[in-house]
Amino acid sequence: MMPRKTFQKKYGPWALVTGASSGIGMEFARQIAALGLNLVLVARRKQRLDRLALELENTHGIQAEALPIDLSRNDFLPEIENITAELDIGLLINNAGFGTTGEFVENDLESEIKLLHVNCRAPLMLAHRFGKKMKNRNRGGIIFLSSIVGFTAVPLWSNYAASKAYDLSLAEALAHELKAHNVDVLALCPGTTEAEFQEIAGTRMLMPMPAAPVVRLALKKLGRRSVAIPGILNRLNVLSIKLQPRPWSRAIFGKVIRHIQKR
Ligand SMILES: NC(=O)c1ccc[n+]([C@@H]2O[C@H](COP(=O)([O-])OP(=O)(O)OC[C@H]3O[C@@H](n4cnc5c(N)ncnc54)[C@H](OP(=O)(O)O)[C@@H]3O)[C@@H](O)[C@H]2O)c1
Repeated sequence: MMPRKTFQKKYGPWALVTGASSGIGMEFARQIAALGLNLVLVARRKQRLDRLALELENTHGIQAEALPIDLSRNDFLPEIENITAELDIGLLINNAGFGTTGEFVENDLESEIKLLHVNCRAPLMLAHRFGKKMKNRNRGGIIFLSSIVGFTAVPLWSNYAASKAYDLSLAEALAHELKAHNVDVLALCPGTTEAEFQEIAGTRMLMPMPAAPVVRLALKKLGRRSVAIPGILNRLNVLSIKLQPRPWSRAIFGKVIRHIQKR
């Protein structure tokens, strides 16, 4: 891990974390606060954000702002722009997201569109807004939450896997574009991780990793790599996806999702 002072110089003084009310996002907020950055915490559940903000302020002596916002809404950006107008955001964690499980045409269309808004549209808009500011100040960092399923098509997780492929591709291209401006971009691609994700997606957890090492790896690799895959099993999984013909990996992943599907 980078020394505290170097981290603050590269990515401070403020970080914005979406999906900070739970799971991987909450862990990002805790580890970034421990490195001494102030935080804007975004998600829908206000009470959780308030509690986390208080905890981080008391534990790490930083400033934390809770910002309850629904990122699936068309007009979420102006609200974030207003609150952050006077804050110098040097690190953006595009983490909020959720999954839907089941046969695409049988799933509720509104939920699928909402998924696209939260998993793709919101990260795109936030990266555009804050990426431009970072480019102009010539430093900063952006992390996108992709997934190992971003490397393959996944039956029964069709829209979710497609959204994570989008996040991966956008992050990799932005890493290239923004490198010359001293802005580091990383796609974080976890496999199953302890969080509320599986409960919301309606699947069972298969050998989950705790969120702490997933986030530690991301903060360690930011600025050194454009893609980070936590855990040896997940790295082997991605390697096998890359070596197999695509129809094989999508058939295997489809079987896995059918196996862990709850309903
Ligand atoms: N856990 C895994 O196995 C796994 C694996 C690979 C990738 N990921 C990715 O990791 C990211 C974080 O998920 P997680 O695993 O930590 O799941 P989680 O515990 O369910 O957390 C999801 C976060 O996203 C927020 N969120 C969801 N919908 C939102 C909306 N409309 N507006 C604002 N915030 C919203 C939730 O907050 P509110 O409900 O309070 O709004 C919550 O803070 C996601 O992008 C997911 O795709 C997870």
